Amino acid sequence: MRTIAIANQKGGCGKTTTAVNLAAALAEKGNRILIVDLDPQGHATIGLGCEPDGLDKTIYDALTNPQIAISTVITGTNVEGLKLVPSNVLLSGAELELANVLGRELVLGEQLRAVSDEYDICVIDCPPSLGLLTLNALIASTDVIVPVQVNYYAMEGLKQLLETANIIKVRFHPCSVKILGLLLTFVENRIIFSGQIQQQMREYFGDLVFDTVIHRTVRLAEAPSAAESILTYAPESRGAAEYTALAEEVINGRLSAEERINDEDEAEEVVDSQPSEEGASNDENVAEEVVDSQPSEEGASNGENVAEEVVDSQPSEEGASNDENVAEEISNVEI
Ligand SMILES: Nc1ncnc2c1ncn2[C@@H]1O[C@H](COP(=O)(O)OP(=O)(O)O)[C@@H](O)[C@H]1O
Ligand SMILES: [Mg+2]
Repeated sequence: MRTIAIANQKGGCGKTTTAVNLAAALAEKGNRILIVDLDPQGHATIGLGCEPDGLDKTIYDALTNPQIAISTVITGTNVEGLKLVPSNVLLSGAELELANVLGRELVLGEQLRAVSDEYDICVIDCPPSLGLLTLNALIASTDVIVPVQVNYYAMEGLKQLLETANIIKVRFHPCSVKILGLLLTFVENRIIFSGQIQQQMREYFGDLVFDTVIHRTVRLAEAPSAAESILTYAPESRGAAEYTALAEEVINGRLSAEERINDEDEAEEVVDSQPSEEGASNDENVAEEVVDSQPSEEGASNGENVAEEVVDSQPSEEGASNDENVAEEISNVEI
């Protein structure tokens, strides 16, 4: 089983939207997919039509009680081939409860190992912090996708996240997590600045940036309110096409330069054949409203905060020396 964490300590950059729609797109291609909601806000849970307050068991139980196997927490969704490990607000207590548990960073990975034969790909929706939950996700994963909202603060915190992934790979053997790619989200063609940021990201990070980008569209913002993925909510929409393209990049790996050129020709054709005009302009107007109603970057943290969070989430019990080194290395990372 491949395990892909969707992580960025910033809130509101498109993690949950990416986790849900990528998982649905991968399932639509016939893969057996498990999505783990690792955020106490439970947005992926809600977005997939599961009522978080009425749940018998959630990821919280599987993380804090070794007697509860994750297989007993898994529930169905309205997407064929997609199963969910749900979450709710109780999960916010898990970091504290795990504080004195030896091997607290490894719990999720151990739980997932038990179901690894039943799924092709597991997608983990991380919370907006670099605390113990996200560490669990990174250590349990083979790949990380980092959604990056294309705005002035796009680079903020990215270096810390990339360094953290590298550090834990060394420290938590046999963890083999790698950054699969940075996914540019909330891209807006009409805004020149959006294009500039995109160009800068590609110049700075090169091939690490996915070819596929996710545009800001109202359909993507609406889909969770219908408890559906974009693939069924608006199958003909740009968002559905883009998350399907992302799923293809994830499955097939990166395109060669030659394939990329061919692909660009095709992309132009797709753009030309967009239902565009009326529908699109309508979409764009609403998109502007969406801009204004964006949640503020609650989880946004600068590098220092990230390091502090990691430090704070580590207790000084035996077995913690490993973690302390990690925290120290993270806090030494240049910003
Ligand atoms: N491409 C997009 N276009 C428009 N709205 C989006 C897009 N991606 C996400 N959103 C909306 O922006 C908000 C934050 O996205 P979300 O995926 O929840 O971010 P995160 O999980 O990183 O906090 C949500 O209301 C979501 O519906
Ligand atoms: Mg989220």
